[in-house]
Amino acid sequence: MNLKGRDLLTLLDFAPEEIEGLLDLAASLKDKKKNGILHRMHEGKNIALIFEKTSTRTRCAFEVAAHDLGMGTTYLGPTGSQMGIKETIADTARVLSGMYDAIEYRGYGQEIVEEIARYSDVPVYNGLTNEFHPTQVLADLLTIREHFGALKGMHLVYMGDARFNMGRSLMIGCAKMGMHFTACAPEGYFPDKELVETCKSIAQETGGEITLSHDPYASVKDADVIYTDIWVSMGEPQEAWEERINLMKPYQVNADLMSHAKDTTIFMHCLPSYHNDQTDIGAAVCKTYGMTALEVTDEVFESKQSLVFEEAENRMHTIKAVIAATL
Ligand code: CP
Ligand code: NVA
Repeated sequence: MNLKGRDLLTLLDFAPEEIEGLLDLAASLKDKKKNGILHRMHEGKNIALIFEKTSTRTRCAFEVAAHDLGMGTTYLGPTGSQMGIKETIADTARVLSGMYDAIEYRGYGQEIVEEIARYSDVPVYNGLTNEFHPTQVLADLLTIREHFGALKGMHLVYMGDARFNMGRSLMIGCAKMGMHFTACAPEGYFPDKELVETCKSIAQETGGEITLSHDPYASVKDADVIYTDIWVSMGEPQEAWEERINLMKPYQVNADLMSHAKDTTIFMHCLPSYHNDQTDIGAAVCKTYGMTALEVTDEVFESKQSLVFEEAENRMHTIKAVIAATL
């Protein structure tokens, strides 16, 4: 596998063998890390981390991964650069690509990260846009592969808002790896038709399957993985909560829903999660709508079936593999 110089903007651009190769590399780097074996294979290189939206996991994963590889990092937070305010995206990309060996971008439209990639000579990584979150899906695939030993034929059911970055990206990842992906969502919250068609044709090649359903109980019956994400994503207005709560409530992952799945079914979530009312937004929304949790209940989140923290750790190992392979 030679991925030198490649961008990671969406997993649509990667062949199944390349994704598998990145997961193998992530597994071997994880092994090295656990055994205290240094792997400073990109000593002296540097990466710029642009975050127009906030982050815990993605930022920390990129920083730790880069440092483990011997690299330097510069974090440019939501108010930390001139980009888009006093300087165009194209100019920023050309400036940064003269100083850094790689650039990560988290923010709004996919067209922004594409423009950065177009104007820079170094690999550009998508750390989340409205449309895609490819590094998250690599971590999810590694977590599923570690747990079940394989990806092909596994059935992942995505519950809730499937039209945004996570639903779309998981559909692509599952299609590429020959998995069965079900988007279980209310009307208007499926991934867009064009992407569904694209993923269906990828799935035809890989032996995967894509289904859309409005029925939570029927969908989870033979699920290996039940996955959900927050109902109102970064960048969406707070006013969206009212409509979203009403529409998404039947898709909440709770103990009743889990009891309709298999004993071996696992629960996953990209995080952050409103699984209780212990956060500012979680508390305010729960209070307004008389709920104790939103997209997933505390009981499921804290259960043995929940792999959310293994999944979060794998963000770092998989992001490290992406950097290591593309530099
Ligand atoms: N899952 C994820 O991307 O988390 P952060 O928003 O904390 O980076
Ligand atoms: N859909 C969420 C994912 C967070 C990792 C968001 O965009 O806010």
